[in-house]
Amino acid sequence: MTAGTAFDFQQYVASRRAAVEERLAQYLFPDDQELLFQAMRYSALGGGKRLRALLCLSAAEAVGAFDCDPLQTALPCACAIEMVHAMSLIHDDLPCMDDDDYRRGRLTNHKVFGEATALLAGDALLVLSLETLARRSPDWIKPPLLLKVVAELAAVAGAKGLVGGQVDDLLATGAISQASPGPASSPAAASSCLLEKIHQAKTGALLRFSVWSGASLMGADDRILGLLTRFGEILGLAFQIADDMLDVTGDIKALGKTPGKDQAAGKLTWVSLYGMEKSKETLVKLENEGKSLLSKTGLAETSLSPLVCLLEYAIHRMN
Ligand code: IPE
Ligand code: IPE
Ligand code: MG
Ligand code: MG
Ligand code: MG
Repeated sequence: MTAGTAFDFQQYVASRRAAVEERLAQYLFPDDQELLFQAMRYSALGGGKRLRALLCLSAAEAVGAFDCDPLQTALPCACAIEMVHAMSLIHDDLPCMDDDDYRRGRLTNHKVFGEATALLAGDALLVLSLETLARRSPDWIKPPLLLKVVAELAAVAGAKGLVGGQVDDLLATGAISQASPGPASSPAAASSCLLEKIHQAKTGALLRFSVWSGASLMGADDRILGLLTRFGEILGLAFQIADDMLDVTGDIKALGKTPGKDQAAGKLTWVSLYGMEKSKETLVKLENEGKSLLSKTGLAETSLSPLVCLLEYAIHRMN
């Protein structure tokens, strides 16, 4: 399946990004000028592709409904996802983790606000994400459904998702060690299974949630939800593989973050385990698989165009 030529992806992205930015700014305490709020806004409003928010909105739009507006339904959720993501970037960049100085073409949060404020801004964004989803979602979403989506966001951000994945990433790199003697976790011993698990948890879980939540909030049936969830999982894995490759091929100007850090830190990445060529082959396979899953939903091709284009973008992007 290819996106129809009539579909203007750039225009789509620009309009949905603008809607997300505007709503996020409203949720991030615009009248409060204290340091903590400045630090939260610095990362949550400081650019970024907004891929996760776009996936949430486009999944909602693809499912559609006669009686509720997909954008109004899913915007609070899309913003909540971007808050979790901003938290993950602030914490990922800290000296105790990846120790990065640049993000989105600017100094990292802790370089501007200090480590303690950066840590706490991340904490505040994480809990604000759940509050935003629970309190700001429109009334027409039935409470049991909303509760399910809130619980799932907490789960994908937590020990079995993003946080757990970050721990395994650092363990595999040797940056942290097991408290009690456990199985060896050196990069050499790491299996492909472990690497896929790390990528799915630290990055894939939130991307999968982005697609699933947009579709769920619109009341998608279980068959469509199953296919879109698998699509989100595939996109999530592909996204992190592309990120691993960009660390090798990208330049700081396009990336907005310092390349070459993975190799310097001895990170376990798709490139370090399989090399560039095999990584490219895996991306081709995942792109085909993702598109075929979308076709199987039976949803109209025109309403699937944004999701098709977002998959292509996640894989072929330059930053
Ligand atoms: C960076 O995510 C962190 C990873 C999961 C690789 P993005 O590349 O989506 O970051 P922004 O939001 O566009 O800056
Ligand atoms: C980070 O993966 C995943 C997160 C949860 C933030 P990376 O450490 O590879 O992300 P970048 O390269 O710093 O953006
Ligand atoms: Mg990292
Ligand atoms: Mg990092
Ligand atoms: Mg990376």
